[in-house]
Amino acid sequence: MPFKDKNILIIGGTSGIGLQTAKSLQEKGANVITASRKQSSEAEALSLQHLPLDVMQFDDSILKELPNELHGLVYCPGSIKLKPFERLQVEDFRTDLELNVLGAVQVLKAVMPLLKKADGASVVLFSTVAAQLGMPFHTSIATAKAAVQGLTVALAAEYANAQIRFNAVAPSLTDTPLAQSLLSTPEKAEASAKRHPLGRVGQPQDMASAALFLLSQDSSWMTGQVLHIDGGMSSVKLL
Ligand SMILES: NC(=O)c1ccc[n+]([C@@H]2O[C@H](COP(=O)([O-])OP(=O)(O)OC[C@H]3O[C@@H](n4cnc5c(N)ncnc54)[C@H](OP(=O)(O)O)[C@@H]3O)[C@@H](O)[C@H]2O)c1
Repeated sequence: MPFKDKNILIIGGTSGIGLQTAKSLQEKGANVITASRKQSSEAEALSLQHLPLDVMQFDDSILKELPNELHGLVYCPGSIKLKPFERLQVEDFRTDLELNVLGAVQVLKAVMPLLKKADGASVVLFSTVAAQLGMPFHTSIATAKAAVQGLTVALAAEYANAQIRFNAVAPSLTDTPLAQSLLSTPEKAEASAKRHPLGRVGQPQDMASAALFLLSQDSSWMTGQVLHIDGGMSSVKLL
């Protein structure tokens, strides 16, 4: 039980990658607390503590419900708004920055005292393959997630002395409700699978495994890193 007695807060632990991470952590003995706008039936079935929270209208009332110390934080809210640059409004960029970056900043500011108390906490943020590899129609999300990666490395530096580690996972297309419209027909699913050197799209378990590694003692000498869990998309080209 590597996570026994470890308190882990998952913002967005009710769907997709966050939900799978919550399940896997629970199986390994963690005390998992999820927070999101609404509880989901899948998360409810796990009987995890759920706190209502909209990061777009953040208030720190969740703090009253949290334990005194947090050993881990995973921030999962994200967006996929793919459009040509000329059809994206400035407001779209602003919304993506608020959800992906400023939401994380506000949560982190609120829970930092609890992370400091844990004597070696780990924070996992989510980026995207598109922050590394230029892809058409991804300008808004790539901009926001590049900021997430900047936040990750800067906080890793600032809190290294406090033994709080910050790392990010950068997925490529992963089969979750967020990506549903990109995988909604067999043709789309097959084309997406073929685009990846390893011949398939990601599954929530692929990302949850990376998140658990980053939260665990197995990665205790790693901070300020971005793990590219993307079927080879960002680094491999088949001839
Ligand atoms: N799936 C992919 O293909 C893919 C690819 C690259 C990167 N990513 C990144 O991976 C992360 C997880 O994505 P996913 O596919 O698992 O997404 P998902 O299935 O849509 O789950 C997102 C979670 O975040 C919560 N959430 C959304 N808006 C929120 C808000 N305003 N306040 C609080 N919670 C909020 C959702 O719950 P509520 O709706 O109840 O609030 C849900 O629990 C994201 O950061 C995403 O950008 C995903």
